[in-house]
Amino acid sequence: MTAYARPESLEALVRALSELGPGARVLAGGTDLMLSVRAGKSFPALINVSRVPELSELAARDGALWIGGGVTVARLLGSAEVHGGALALWQAADRFASPLVRSRATVGGNLCNASPAADLALALLALDAEVHLVSAQGRRALPVSDFMLGPGKSALAQGEVLTAVRVPLRPGLLQRFIKSGTRPALEIAAASVAVALSMEHGVVVAPRIACGAVAPVPVRARSAERALERHALTPERIEEAACAAATEVRPIDDVRASALYRRRLVAAFVRRSLEELAAASTPGNREATQALGRGPPTKQGGRPAHGQLGLDSLAERSASPAAPAGDEVPIVLVLNGRRVEARVSPTMALLELVRDRFQLSGSKLGCGEGECGACAMLLDGEPVLGCLTPAVDTDGREVRTVEGLRDGAQLGKLQQAFVREGAVQCGFCTPGMLVAASGLLARHPNPTEEQICRGLEGNLCRCTGYVAVIEAVRAS
Ligand SMILES: Cc1cc2nc3c(=O)[nH]c(=O)nc-3n(C[C@H](O)[C@H](O)[C@H](O)COP(=O)(O)OP(=O)(O)OC[C@H]3O[C@@H](n4cnc5c(N)ncnc54)[C@H](O)[C@@H]3O)c2cc1C
Ligand code: FES
Ligand code: FES
Repeated sequence: MTAYARPESLEALVRALSELGPGARVLAGGTDLMLSVRAGKSFPALINVSRVPELSELAARDGALWIGGGVTVARLLGSAEVHGGALALWQAADRFASPLVRSRATVGGNLCNASPAADLALALLALDAEVHLVSAQGRRALPVSDFMLGPGKSALAQGEVLTAVRVPLRPGLLQRFIKSGTRPALEIAAASVAVALSMEHGVVVAPRIACGAVAPVPVRARSAERALERHALTPERIEEAACAAATEVRPIDDVRASALYRRRLVAAFVRRSLEELAAASTPGNREATQALGRGPPTKQGGRPAHGQLGLDSLAERSASPAAPAGDEVPIVLVLNGRRVEARVSPTMALLELVRDRFQLSGSKLGCGEGECGACAMLLDGEPVLGCLTPAVDTDGREVRTVEGLRDGAQLGKLQQAFVREGAVQCGFCTPGMLVAASGLLARHPNPTEEQICRGLEGNLCRCTGYVAVIEAVRAS
């Protein structure tokens, strides 16, 4: 039995955290938390932070980038400030899961979940970022390096919330993030590296080399940094730093990779990053500089302000400040263009809501872990995972499933293109592919092949492949 609150100010959030007691947990995007729920874990209370304005700030001011704890990975990717000032973080966002996860996963969740392989946390470590926390006892700030304490363990105290991350902006800072894996999507890094350094008069100043998935927390390779400090980026120095980093990290053998392979990845990634940064710092080498910052920020949905539909939200009246444990939370949403009401438990997945309560069986339960995309739906126009999105978070918002892609009594244009091009390969994956493609087309009406592939990277097909699907999206 889980109590639920959805405060609308930081004061109300802090109050809810202290009133709801030790087991109360912040609910942000839910991509980690809902996985725990699906694995059978229960929470005495969940506090949805999506309507706390302070947590969604994303702005450059006073020489720093301020990123609210509730800012999603999709918003990072769409931000010119992040691309311009914190490129390593932008590159981490670009390699983060799939669009279906990026639309929900937040910066605060990534840090507080404290995974040794957390991509955003790794980039933030290399960028000397600071974590800002608030509780009933007051405010405090600490470096990212002191925040993550071990797998799943952070310095977050009881009743505390991560409000923002402060990233100092250093003009001319060269940055690179590299993560293992041939597929960009859904790859939990076997090893990852983030590098940031400045060049002054031909020598390296204040280098930062952070390594992920090779220790209980993301770590700085201090010996490699010392090898570079005040030296030119020569091939010999680069090699020395790469070997020092690989020797310093403490990887383990596990199902994803052996310790030896991880060390080799670290050496290779440090070497490659430094070679690219050396090329980019060569005066006049525009090509290398541009390669580092590949792809300007594209318009990525990002979470719009809640309640924009002007719905008379039932949860607003009865779930705030808190619905007691055991009580179902009343919600109202627009589902495929129709206003509907429901009562849901705070941990119910959106997929269950649409399938079991509204008999919309197009969206499928495949893996239930965010890996296959069969459950994809649009939430305020953005593709999300039905299996990991809490139904309570749809209150006051618009949900569209594959059934809602029709054009009146007819199939929609995209659906017709799928039929025409032979892209309806199986009934299980096609609905999710249609929904993800529809979200992509809303952002890129004339997508390139690369954009189509990236847009569908969270949707798996195990039977045929993607040729006809790509053709159908292009043709629609
Ligand atoms: C399919 C899939 C692919 C993934 N791929 C990647 C990947 O490529 N790279 C990667 O790094 N991660 C990946 N993840 C992990 C996950 O998406 C990230 O860790 C994400 O950033 C978590 O954010 P969230 O908002 O969903 O957190 P939630 O699940 O809402 O919360 C996670 C934890 O943090 C706490 N929390 C959240 N926000 C705050 C806050 N502001 N203050 C205090 N506590 C807070 C919650 O109470 C909870 O304990 C993946 C997950 C899935 C399911
Ligand atoms: S991603 Fe949701 S069921 Fe597989
Ligand atoms: S389309 Fe479903 S497995 Fe290939």
